[in-house]
Amino acid sequence: MANMLDETIRLHHVVASFIPVKVRPNVTELVEKSTSHFKSPKITEWRGYRIGPPFCASSVQWQFNNWRPTEKDVLVASYPKTGTTWLTNIVRNIIYFDHIEILEMLKSVTPIHTYIEGGTPVNFELMQKLPWKRKIWGTHLPAKLVNMKRLKENGCKVLYIIRNPNDQLLSWFKMSKTFSFNHNKVTDQFYPTEWNSFFETFVNGKKPLLSKEGEWYPDHILSYYPYRNDDNVLFVVFENLKTKTKEEIGRIAEFLGVQRTEEEINHIVQLSSFKSMKESATRFYEELKFFRKGEVADWKNHFTVAQSELMDEKFNEKLSGIDIKFTYE
Ligand code: A3P
Repeated sequence: MANMLDETIRLHHVVASFIPVKVRPNVTELVEKSTSHFKSPKITEWRGYRIGPPFCASSVQWQFNNWRPTEKDVLVASYPKTGTTWLTNIVRNIIYFDHIEILEMLKSVTPIHTYIEGGTPVNFELMQKLPWKRKIWGTHLPAKLVNMKRLKENGCKVLYIIRNPNDQLLSWFKMSKTFSFNHNKVTDQFYPTEWNSFFETFVNGKKPLLSKEGEWYPDHILSYYPYRNDDNVLFVVFENLKTKTKEEIGRIAEFLGVQRTEEEINHIVQLSSFKSMKESATRFYEELKFFRKGEVADWKNHFTVAQSELMDEKFNEKLSGIDIKFTYE
């Protein structure tokens, strides 16, 4: 836990150092906020959604009312453990392929800085003053807590990644154990460390994870689904990224309005491979075990038949009216 806090504080200072001293925001507030999530974790609420550390209701509300991205901004939206880091890395490489110095600086820019739900005004100021033009943001917020109307009017691009829910759930269970924000006196009850209890808690919508009581992954998908055909929105599927990596990277580049040659795309395929990302992971990503297996169907090694059937049943029930089919193997 202490390691994560030290690393968070260090990263705030490193990222601020990319900005000329004269206009550099004071990161004291960010450091204090990060420290408070560790010292006195709280579960807060906005519009009926429970928000647990490292996020809080006031930041979620602030971004909804005040964040004004432009057509240069990109938002990678997702439910946790669906390939967010992977897609973010692909977007970064597509946009900054020929700017090695920016890609290098971006290694220190983590969800602590980019997640809009974590943003105080200083956080947004910090991101906005970074010395590159197109900012790549992230969010695990359901669409109802993102100002989708404003994003559309302003031309901000939104990529939404989905993954088969069984692998998502397993991945979240594995990471959850080491994720320090999940284990303190207020959140412990929501994150059992034993698989069967975790499964039950999760599928019954009991997590304080930017969701309403009873809501979970299918509800998150349902919240973004109505926007899927908007010009500024692109749905990406984890399993398609695995099997058709080159084509998918080409499709994402086109959506972002960036021209990349076939040779460049081939290079981006390599840079965003699981092996390459795991090998070059910085301490932040290593500590949080962001790169585990990166496979499709690992769920088969952990789910009981009854659990797999219950997942199918619950998903079919919630998503019966929409046109999304998951790839489970
Ligand atoms: P597993 O735990 O199944 O391995 P997120 O970034 O949203 O937290 O998602 C994490 C999941 O994406 C983890 O899944 C991680 O291993 C996988 N992942 C990260 N980078 C990847 C890559 N380059 N290729 C395939 N999977 C990747």
